[in-house]
Amino acid sequence: MNLLELEKQKLITDHRSLITRPRRLRANPAIRAMVRETELNARDFIYPLFVRHETGRSEIRSMPGVYQLSVEEAVRETETASKSGVNAVILFGIPKEKDPIGLENFSEDGIVQQAIRAIKKELPEMVVVTDVCLCEYTDHGHCGILNTGEHFHAGLPEGYVLNDPTLDVLAKVAVSHAECGADIVAPSGMMDGMVVSIREALDISGYENLPIMSYAVKYASSFYGPFRDAAEGAPKFGDRKSHQMDPGNVREALREAALDVEEGADMLMVKPALAYLDVIRVVKDAFPELPMAAYNVSGEYSMIKAAAANGWVDEEKVTLETLTSIKRAGADVIITYHAVEAAKWLK
Ligand code: PBG
Repeated sequence: MNLLELEKQKLITDHRSLITRPRRLRANPAIRAMVRETELNARDFIYPLFVRHETGRSEIRSMPGVYQLSVEEAVRETETASKSGVNAVILFGIPKEKDPIGLENFSEDGIVQQAIRAIKKELPEMVVVTDVCLCEYTDHGHCGILNTGEHFHAGLPEGYVLNDPTLDVLAKVAVSHAECGADIVAPSGMMDGMVVSIREALDISGYENLPIMSYAVKYASSFYGPFRDAAEGAPKFGDRKSHQMDPGNVREALREAALDVEEGADMLMVKPALAYLDVIRVVKDAFPELPMAAYNVSGEYSMIKAAAANGWVDEEKVTLETLTSIKRAGADVIITYHAVEAAKWLK
């Protein structure tokens, strides 16, 4: 078939008659930037810090560039974050001693309590978020009080994570963080009723203006592996499937989010982020009035670091593309270990 015949049969279009050409807005960098729908900003990021009692800092084997920090080093790292334009940190503590309940978690001299006070003293404008969970503090590494000993509840399996007794501990932890000056508390244990229990305890204690960012939709994910090295909070037996969500579920995400909204959550979170972009979108569309956070978790960070170290991907480009995709999916706020680096790249 020659060209003329093709044209007659309208199998090719006369190029002069093409009205719609999306490419017109793509080639000129200034126009391209003008019509960009999703723009990352250092203000979107929350930077996670791991605080410990020992002095100095030590790098986490599975998370290059991430450290366990003394209180002093945590202040220094927060300063670095602040200079890069990142306005918020989220604190995780590695206690001196662990026990079945995790007493240091709500102790006045707990490591997170010390870190909050030190950071707020040196950098009062910095937003200090605290993770509220038991797993880093309990000797068994679970996110709640176990069904054993004095708490034994016949009818539930030995070692089951008990929901309601755990709520009282979570409430104590949140109040203790509030007393030290935390700006936002973020319960991450996926206990039913955790938001309302914490809300009530904060309100009775005079912290009715302290926001709760709920890890509302948290999956039982293998992407948390490196974090468990960092926070030394891996479960000593079993897993977290009795409370964290099944990766196959998305309708259940709406149920979890709705409950937390009802219980008084001020912000919702989906975690992990990258393998759950569809979940971020669905939750954002269902609750557009609430700010949404997404946790770009340890495994997602370490995968990029490992590939970049091998020269297989361009770390800067892949990281910014990943973070953009999380924001495009509907996240307003992104918790990421790449926060400070990404903020510098964005400059
Ligand atoms: C629980 C908690 C975890 C993470 C944040 N908070 C671990 C877990 O649920 O097992 C994981 C974060 C990450 O992987 O970066 N306190």
